[in-house]
Amino acid sequence: MEEIKEGQEIYRGRFSIIKKALYRGDYAIIKIPNIPPNAPTGQRELVCEILLREFEIIKKLKEKGCSYIIDILHPEPIIREYPILIFEYCPKTLRDIIDYGIDEKTALDLIHKITIAIECMHKQRIIHGDLKPENILIDINDTPKIADFNAIPAREKGIKEFYTLEYAPPELIEKEIIDEKTDVWQIGVIMYELIEKKAPIQSR
Ligand SMILES: Nc1ncnc2c1ncn2[C@@H]1O[C@H](COP(=O)(O)OP(=O)(O)O)[C@@H](O)[C@H]1O
Ligand SMILES: [Mg+2]
Repeated sequence: MEEIKEGQEIYRGRFSIIKKALYRGDYAIIKIPNIPPNAPTGQRELVCEILLREFEIIKKLKEKGCSYIIDILHPEPIIREYPILIFEYCPKTLRDIIDYGIDEKTALDLIHKITIAIECMHKQRIIHGDLKPENILIDINDTPKIADFNAIPAREKGIKEFYTLEYAPPELIEKEIIDEKTDVWQIGVIMYELIEKKAPIQSR
């Protein structure tokens, strides 16, 4: 039986494409590699490897009981012509919440949950490195879920531009230093943005 039906594309990033999907009859999200038809040699392998590594990282965090990390619906990537990762569908991101506006108490509750997730990640020696409102999803129960762990395999592969300028601490921009404090800085920027509706440092 066909377990997964690919639906509409909702996002196209540098390494991957996000699509709506039906998985075992329920709404889901799939993340697949972005392989342009004219991709240079090796690009296909690179993006597939990044995606598979991202999946491994998320799976490990979920197995270690980290709450507030995006849920995976299928225990392994589905391999067709390319790997397909299947995630729970989240109706919003933290960006939508910022745009809409929230009170400080709700902001505090969200940040509290996100910091629990970060603490759990750091115990597993996993540094996200690209925390920003677009990478924090809000599930159907209004619970925040950290997503998008591909900055980690990107770093492992020596790709330098894995982070987002507005959320990057000075030592990352100037000296490419990344450690647990990077995530702490990024959560600080997000916290400011939740209250002030704009990031403290604008890159544009
Ligand atoms: N599980 C999900 N549910 C709903 N939307 C999602 C989900 N995963 C990703 N998205 C949407 O797709 C965007 C990109 O996903 P992300 O995993 O961050 O990919 P990329 O690595 O290309 O940035 C997110 O900012 C969000 O808007
Ligand atoms: Mg992202």
